[in-house]
Amino acid sequence: PDGTIEIPVVVNVLYRTAAENISDAQIQSQIDVLNEDYAGTNADFANVPALFSGVKAAIGVKFKLINTVRKSTNKKSWSTNDAMKKSSTGGINPTSPANTLNLWVCTLGGGVLGYAQFPGGQSATDGVVCLNTGFGRIGTAQAPFNKGRTATHEVGHWMNLRHIWGDATCGSDLVNDTPQHNTANYGCPSYPHKSTCTGTPVEMTMNYMDYTDDACMYMFSAGQKTRALAVFANGGPRAAFAQ
Ligand code: ARG
Ligand code: ZN
Ligand code: CA
Repeated sequence: PDGTIEIPVVVNVLYRTAAENISDAQIQSQIDVLNEDYAGTNADFANVPALFSGVKAAIGVKFKLINTVRKSTNKKSWSTNDAMKKSSTGGINPTSPANTLNLWVCTLGGGVLGYAQFPGGQSATDGVVCLNTGFGRIGTAQAPFNKGRTATHEVGHWMNLRHIWGDATCGSDLVNDTPQHNTANYGCPSYPHKSTCTGTPVEMTMNYMDYTDDACMYMFSAGQKTRALAVFANGGPRAAFAQ
């Protein structure tokens, strides 16, 4: 009613060990990060370089934890095949995925920090999966992925945002105000980091849709905001969330 979209969130935790059964406080710390990062109230938003201060943006979506579902498993690790999203394969079915953001938190193999389903996919597998040691900013969260930015990044995909390098050499993320990146950046690049793409623009390595460390990503752009909010508009694939 006040125009701000508030997204109900259900967190689904799959655990084998006690440590994998992360605490309510760790879960809430992740919800807090999402609320800060999507409102531009994250403390490091002020670190955005002057070059990008004109385009840094608050997407302005809120997140509200409505339930936590926990299930014990004997699986040591999960892969990106969505098994964690189905009780028939030992996982947890999503709660009301048409109007609820489901997050699954588990141990993932292969060094994967998380993965997301883009808008327009099957309801039964809709949502975001995050590695338990990269979830939230307390408890079992481990540096350099202990500032909750994996979920910020994956929820960006869930809102239709692409990787800033467009998943190709000097590719496009379909957003005009983000510079071309030659490829993904890792770690914490020193500023300014210049692209080798046409015009050698300074890369926006501090954008959440790059692959830099949690401490080194802290902004979305205005173009990303427009693209993300379009998903919730009338006729958009996630319009049901704006009701
Ligand atoms: N989809 C990426 C992966 O699975 C997530 C990258 C998140 N980056 C971060 N700094 N938390 O590797
Ligand atoms: Zn990604
Ligand atoms: Ca761009």
